Amino acid sequence: MKEMTKKSIGEAFAGESMAHMKYLIFADVADKDGLPNIAKLFRAIAYAEKVHATNHAKLLGYIGSTVENLQGGIDGENFEVDEMYPAYDAIAKLQGEKGAERAIHFAVEAEKGHAKFYAEAKKLAEKKEDMQSGDVYVCPVCGYTVIDDVPEKCPVCSYKGEQFTKF
Ligand code: FE2
Ligand code: FE2
Ligand code: FE2
Repeated sequence: MKEMTKKSIGEAFAGESMAHMKYLIFADVADKDGLPNIAKLFRAIAYAEKVHATNHAKLLGYIGSTVENLQGGIDGENFEVDEMYPAYDAIAKLQGEKGAERAIHFAVEAEKGHAKFYAEAKKLAEKKEDMQSGDVYVCPVCGYTVIDDVPEKCPVCSYKGEQFTKF
């Protein structure tokens, strides 16, 4: 791909990815507002944006084998833990932004676990094996992620373990 086209498609990928995420969040709001068909419309159009993002990602060479994708996940999560969030945290502290500091803390604690789970999964995928454990649970307040055993209380934000979202 020529340089300018690559840049355009990269920006389109970022925009479609953001639209996908926003629409999924908006769907949850519509559900809470008691408007399930509007929630469905948001989810359907979020899926359409994912289709667009996938087409762009393919052109950009972002998608590999599962082993390669897991390595990409490990690299991304480690970057967030080691470089990105520490720098953002310093900015939030410097500027006295308590809300941002809290959101960053929640994210960075979850990302540590994500990198670890991806590393475990990669070892298995390299042997063409799937993970044995089926159930992944996520704290809906902070994103803290566990496999199989749910804590009584979230260790990051103290939310009730029984309220974790199951995958
Ligand atoms: Fe789109
Ligand atoms: Fe993550
Ligand atoms: Fe939590």
